[in-house]
Amino acid sequence: MTLLNDKIAIVTGASSGIGRAAAKVFAREGAKLVISGRRQDALEAVVAEIEAEGGKAVAVAGDVRDEALQARLVETAVSRFGRLDIAFNNAGVVGEMGSVAGLSLEGWRETIETNLTASFLGAKHQSPAMGKGGSLIFTSTFVGHTAGMPGMGAYAASKAGLIGLVQVLAAELALRNIRVNALLPGGTDTPASITNAPDATPEVLAFVNGLHALKRMAQPEEIANAALFLASDLSSFVTGTAMLADGGVSISRT
Ligand SMILES: NC(=O)c1ccc[n+]([C@@H]2O[C@H](COP(=O)([O-])OP(=O)(O)OC[C@H]3O[C@@H](n4cnc5c(N)ncnc54)[C@H](OP(=O)(O)O)[C@@H]3O)[C@@H](O)[C@H]2O)c1
Repeated sequence: MTLLNDKIAIVTGASSGIGRAAAKVFAREGAKLVISGRRQDALEAVVAEIEAEGGKAVAVAGDVRDEALQARLVETAVSRFGRLDIAFNNAGVVGEMGSVAGLSLEGWRETIETNLTASFLGAKHQSPAMGKGGSLIFTSTFVGHTAGMPGMGAYAASKAGLIGLVQVLAAELALRNIRVNALLPGGTDTPASITNAPDATPEVLAFVNGLHALKRMAQPEEIANAALFLASDLSSFVTGTAMLADGGVSISRT
């Protein structure tokens, strides 16, 4: 018996990094998936990988800021697979970096809309489609929750805002047994990480590794496994939390 046997799940940000790893882990655990991101070709590659392992997934490309896309993801889950049990709202961007005094209003809005407003739109369409029971997961971060990192004002605000949204949703949906949680990864080795920027140096990597008590970054699969816990019945008494999977970055002082 697998952990997500015949569950129906939406995963956003599935064309890359944490979302791609989660889509593959969820599929291996028996879920049927609607996966999303803006890049159709990258999504099709993930579908092919899932199908090659005997899983089921359908790709729906689009921008998470677009309410019509959010509605289409839910409609696709229901029309292709019959219902919706799980949504991993994971798409996100670091966005414009720089001191708050130097941030552009446009950059601020883009980050807030991608990381926070899009998650609101996801929840707005996903929760009514869930029957009695379900799991909504939102990818937040330790940045702005347990650590103030210079230059990340818009990102921190967008991701901390998610934790407030999660608490309200968890309270609103509890009587329908829909659990709602935020997942807070530490530094994770994905294309979005500053350690993979074209100008990243070995010193940058050493600095980021050293922030964590475990003295390394996460692999995307490690964060996907934390999402699997929140998606599955293993976390049946867990709701309204901001769950750290951060390699101890929040407690490390060494
Ligand atoms: N990596 C880290 O260290 C870290 C740490 C804490 C939290 N996080 C969070 O983890 C989540 C996943 O990040 P990642 O590290 O896996 O980064 P990634 O490899 O760059 O993946 C980001 C995903 O989000 C999608 N996306 C971005 N903007 C979108 C938009 N407007 N509409 C639709 N899809 C969009 C991308 O798809 P397309 O490019 O195809 O549009 C991609 O699939 C993000 O929310 C991020 O903030 C990451």
